[in-house]
Amino acid sequence: MIEITDMHAYYGKSHILQGVNMNVQEGEIVALLGRNGVGRSTTCKAIMGEVEPKGSVKFRGQEIAGKKAFEIANMGIGYVPENRDIFPGLTTRQNLILGLKPGQKDGEGRWSMQNMFDMFSNLNERADVEASVLSGGEQQMLTMCRTLMGDPEFVMIDEPTEGLSPQMTMKVAEVLQEIANRGISTLLVEQKLAIAMDIAHRVYVMGHGQVVFEGTPAELRERDDVRKEWLEV
Ligand SMILES: Nc1ncnc2c1ncn2[C@@H]1O[C@H](COP(=O)(O)OP(=O)(O)OP(=O)(O)O)[C@@H](O)[C@H]1O
Ligand SMILES: [Mg+2]
Repeated sequence: MIEITDMHAYYGKSHILQGVNMNVQEGEIVALLGRNGVGRSTTCKAIMGEVEPKGSVKFRGQEIAGKKAFEIANMGIGYVPENRDIFPGLTTRQNLILGLKPGQKDGEGRWSMQNMFDMFSNLNERADVEASVLSGGEQQMLTMCRTLMGDPEFVMIDEPTEGLSPQMTMKVAEVLQEIANRGISTLLVEQKLAIAMDIAHRVYVMGHGQVVFEGTPAELRERDDVRKEWLEV
């Protein structure tokens, strides 16, 4: 599905990603773990074309490094950024419609607006109010739902449970499972181990702009050394 080989990325002169190698197969949920500032979000942005990647990023065999973000989105890659990326002056419903791809109508993809409202009753109740009045957690849900409206084949979700209540965290975990059930490949960026270890098929741990561990959740559980050096605070 996605194959990343020797990917580098820079902010100005800072060399942030230093040769990232990773892949996500069809229907797989892969977690990308690591401490603050190691380059997890930059990895997503480089795949998405929001940051210029050096090296190779192949999506279904096709090279996408060097393409523009909107082209990459139209090819079927979705990104739910860690900040709440909503249009505050538009309603919840209008925000969801903006997630559709050019020419796509609601209900044509795997996800309809009604699906979103069924999953998140809070969004349903606030369908026609300005998104600026939604709570932080609701805005985060809306960001995730808007990306799903575009019917991605592969979606990167950046710290979706950060700052959420335990109840909303559970809701997000259910949606992540539902995304997988619908056959969508997922790269889940997390800092907390628990959720990722529960739902991921495979895990990458990142440290200083490189992958420092790759394996199954069960394998990571056995590796106290990796967890101590690269994950625990
Ligand atoms: N726009 C930017 N300009 C300059 N440096 C940046 C920019 N964005 C991120 N960085 C730096 O790049 C490094 C990696 O950042 P990144 O956002 O990828 O980390 P992360 O692993 O997602 O961690 P977290 O989300 O916890 O901050 C950090 O040192 C950060 O300070
Ligand atoms: Mg980040």
